[in-house]
Amino acid sequence: MGKYIIAGNWKMNKLPSETYDFVKEVVEATKGAECEVVCCTPYVCLAPAVEAAKGTHVKIGAENLHFEDSGAFTGEISADMLADLGVEYVIIGHSERRAYNNETDETVNKKIVKALSKGLIPIVCVGESLEEREAGITMDLIAIQIKKAFAGVSAEDAAKVVVAYEPIWAIGTGKTATDDQAEEVCGGIRNILAALYDEATAKAVTIQYGGSMNAKNCAGLLAKENIDGGLIGGASLKAPDFATIVAAAK
Ligand code: PGA
Repeated sequence: MGKYIIAGNWKMNKLPSETYDFVKEVVEATKGAECEVVCCTPYVCLAPAVEAAKGTHVKIGAENLHFEDSGAFTGEISADMLADLGVEYVIIGHSERRAYNNETDETVNKKIVKALSKGLIPIVCVGESLEEREAGITMDLIAIQIKKAFAGVSAEDAAKVVVAYEPIWAIGTGKTATDDQAEEVCGGIRNILAALYDEATAKAVTIQYGGSMNAKNCAGLLAKENIDGGLIGGASLKAPDFATIVAAAK
């Protein structure tokens, strides 16, 4: 379906001083990758990460951005700042930011629109809590998140967006969604996009699974028709584990 993309989400891990060497390690370990390889790092690690990835197959992403161009937003980072640094991807609406940083479907939408307008590729996170899954409202919730996220986004731009399906109950818990559970929702996301846009656009979108994906369980997930990659937290912090997941994406 969409282009295979394996993206690491370092979250609040690793120091700027260890970033250059670690990204070089990822470059080495993932040589010959048949998918796009992305490292999303904390803001302060972006400059050495971009430096280490320069001229290689590895791309660098941020974990957030602000939706305004510039101005009095103390502590925030704009799309222009990221693009100027050579950053190509940006995670938007991760469930941790939705939970701890007042990220809403509305701010997620504004950030997607801004990122696209500046040539950054958004990795948009959606996903349900355990409570919502048990209440049987997973797909209703995902449909709302997707529709709100893509509001005002043209079909041409939508095709560039990466959607990461991340069930909240599977993030950092070691509790992965089964291959079939993940495929069911990722396929559902593709159907929602087809209804919003058209089949061709829906097929062009990369849909990742994220949530305790690791070197052991990645093959089954990535073999599913509608899973075009992964957003990897814990397992992206060790180059050999990350490389195993990259090798499974083809
Ligand atoms: P995890 O995190 O792989 O550590 O579960 C995934 C994510 O939150 O993107």
